[in-house]
Amino acid sequence: MEMTRLERARAYERTKKEEMNPQWKPVYHAAAPVGWVNDPNGFSIYQDEVHLFFQYYPYDMSWGPMHWGHCKSKDFIDWEYLPAVMAPGEAYDNFGCFSGSAIESEGEHVLIYTGVIEEELEDGSKKMAQVQCGASGDGLNYRKWDCNPIITSDSLPEGSSTVDFRDPKVWKKDGVYYLVVGSRNRDGSGQIALYQSKDLRAWEYCTILDCCNNEYGKMWECPDFFPLGEKYLLVTSPQDMREEGLKFHKGNGVICVMGDYDEKEKKFTRKKVTAVDYGLDFYAPQSLETKDGRRVMIAWMQSWDANIAPKELGWVGMMTVPRELELVDGELVQRPVRELNDYRKDLVRYEKIELSGRQSLEGISGRVMDLSLEIEEDGVESFCLHIGHSEEYTTTITWNPKEATLEFDRNGSGMVRDVVCSRKMWVDTADGRLHLRILLDRFSAEIFANGGRQVMSNAFYTPLEADGILFEVNGKAKVTVEKYDIVK
Ligand code: FRU
Repeated sequence: MEMTRLERARAYERTKKEEMNPQWKPVYHAAAPVGWVNDPNGFSIYQDEVHLFFQYYPYDMSWGPMHWGHCKSKDFIDWEYLPAVMAPGEAYDNFGCFSGSAIESEGEHVLIYTGVIEEELEDGSKKMAQVQCGASGDGLNYRKWDCNPIITSDSLPEGSSTVDFRDPKVWKKDGVYYLVVGSRNRDGSGQIALYQSKDLRAWEYCTILDCCNNEYGKMWECPDFFPLGEKYLLVTSPQDMREEGLKFHKGNGVICVMGDYDEKEKKFTRKKVTAVDYGLDFYAPQSLETKDGRRVMIAWMQSWDANIAPKELGWVGMMTVPRELELVDGELVQRPVRELNDYRKDLVRYEKIELSGRQSLEGISGRVMDLSLEIEEDGVESFCLHIGHSEEYTTTITWNPKEATLEFDRNGSGMVRDVVCSRKMWVDTADGRLHLRILLDRFSAEIFANGGRQVMSNAFYTPLEADGILFEVNGKAKVTVEKYDIVK
């Protein structure tokens, strides 16, 4: 009997996985098992375990017909890779199984995703459509539903796009299922549609929760909608953002639309819009709620604007560390999940030492660590941390207290196809010092400034031999340094 496309993908990833060098993979971040990975999908808890699916094309180092890959974890940090769960090929998803979400329902794990249909017309041109579909399974094997597609763009307000209608995010509240999905209205700008259902199969269109009016990018991809503190957050990933100082960078971005939600009227009132992460590599985040009530978010730690992973690695695409979200004084705060603390070993600590010029510190080197710095502002002209440092390579994180900015710059990281290689963000120092927590995991640096009030996620694919850390201070800096290894 001929293999199905899913069986073929599973067989391929089995053989290829054995050829992969585990030394060339992140240690505590979820990453592509083989081939290409983009958005996190179906980030959910099923039978007390965290499941993470992802947009997946196992056969190449670039995007292709989208499958869903799969891994799971008990603690957000130690990921077990499982066989892929979906391949494209049905009439309703022949071009790809695009992004979506998951929910536990009556003992089953239900996936709600976008099926992309490509149809060849008589004149040879192609017509595309996007529809929403479902599948259910047991945490290992999933079956697409016979009733697919479950939502088509016919249900949207008149004039909405039939081509851009994707990335459903599902949740349950008071016995009713809801989902938000990205779409475009008549003038081409992004809008987020809300649907409701009693059984996850029959869906009723409710309303447009918010619409970008061509202000924050164009198409709004991968929406997520959830309560946080007293507010509701609509987190979405706009394509084609325009730059606005340091507030928003151009290209693909992620925004947090904070507002009030009247559940009864299903009316969302926007109060403010901010960026979620100021780094080079952060897109398509998705969140879940843990049993103990934490809102945890994960994102693709790469960007469509820069695909710089070296092909020799055999994989492209990793996720951020999952982050706990909180609203503090009306601001979104992100911190690495507390479970990461269980993997911290061998503390090296320097208390209030004085640094000036270029120097390294005994015991502070490597490419996998949880590093905290508390830098007193007094006397600092500029403070620069070189990571992945060697004679040949360096990547820098520079604090300029006068400008109140922090810059990540990977110009020297050794990548030859890297065009957009630096980003800056505002950092404040209300109490006269800057606090940075920097997570390094071989090919990434996630920077949480001031307790997670400003965050920057970045990939850098410098050869692993470059594992130096160098401090470079203009002026004088009083610094407390804490470094833990992360050991699994
Ligand atoms: C976002 C995205 C989604 C889409 C998927 C396709 O990165 O463009 O909108 O579902 O990737 O792989």
